[in-house]
Amino acid sequence: MAHVPFGYRSVEPSTKRKLVEDVFTSVASRYDVMNDVMSLGIQRAWKQALVQAIRPRTAIRARLSVLDVATGSGDLAVRIAHAHTNSHVVACDSTMSMLTHGRATRSSADTLPLRWLVGDGESLPFANEQFDVITNAFGLRNMTDYEQSLREAYRCLRSGGQFLALELSPVRDAVLKDLYQFYAFSCLPRMGQWITGNGDAYRYLAQSIQRFAAPFDIKAALGRAGFVDCRATPYTFKAVHLYHAIKE
Ligand SMILES: C[S@@+](CC[C@H](N)C(=O)[O-])C[C@H]1O[C@@H](n2cnc3c(N)ncnc32)[C@H](O)[C@@H]1O
Repeated sequence: MAHVPFGYRSVEPSTKRKLVEDVFTSVASRYDVMNDVMSLGIQRAWKQALVQAIRPRTAIRARLSVLDVATGSGDLAVRIAHAHTNSHVVACDSTMSMLTHGRATRSSADTLPLRWLVGDGESLPFANEQFDVITNAFGLRNMTDYEQSLREAYRCLRSGGQFLALELSPVRDAVLKDLYQFYAFSCLPRMGQWITGNGDAYRYLAQSIQRFAAPFDIKAALGRAGFVDCRATPYTFKAVHLYHAIKE
C-alpha cells in the first residue's frame, strides 16, 4: 500500500498504525474528559442519535449482537448495552490503554452483557456474518485504510445487518468556517495540552479532520464495500455526520 495520511504528513501504513496507537495511548486517561470539554458535551447527543438509529433488518433472535469497532474507552458500547437491553456488545479497539482505561472507569459495564477485546478494525478477529449491528464512532479517520475497515464490517454483518458510524468533517459554512478553523487549529491543541498533556494529539485531530474523506466520498466508499441504502445525516453545522448503511 502507498503512503497514507497521518494528519498533514504522508507516512508508511505501518508508521501510521504506530503513531495512532501512540496518540491514543498518551491521551487515554484524559480522553473522555477532553471529548466532553472540546465538544461542550455535544458528543453525547451525537452518540445518542447513533444509539437510537439502531434498527437492523436481520432476523429477530433472542439477542441483538453488536460490535463497536474503534470503541476507545467504550463510551458508545456502554451506551448501546444500556439502551438495548436485549443486546450483547463487543467493544473492540486496537489500543490496549484505551480499553484498559475504559474498563477501569466504567464500573457499571461489569454488570452489562459487554465484552472488551483488543482487535484491528481492518482485520476483524471474527468469522463471517456474526453481527446484527456494527458501529464505529470517530474511528474511520484513524484507520490506516478506512475502506478496508468498511469491507471488514460488511463481511462480519449478517444479511439485513446495519453499519452505523459517526465521523467529523470540517465546517464549510461561509459564516462559521473561519471560526471553526480558529477553534480547531488554535484552541484544540492548547486545550489538549492543558487537559491531556499532549497538544500534538489534538493538532493531529484537527489535521486529520481536514484531510479525511468528505461525506459524499464516505457514502460512495460504503457502496463500494457492498452496502446499500447508504445515507449521511448531518449534525451541528455539518461538523459531524451519522452514516447509515445496510448489508442486503
Ligand atoms: C477518536 S477515538 C474514538 C473512540 C470512541 N469510539 C469514541 O467515540 O469515544 C479512535 C479510536 O480508534 C482506534 N483505532 C484506530 N485504528 C484502529 C484500528 N485499525 N482498529 C481498531 N481500532 C482502531 C484508536 O485506538 C482509538 O481508540
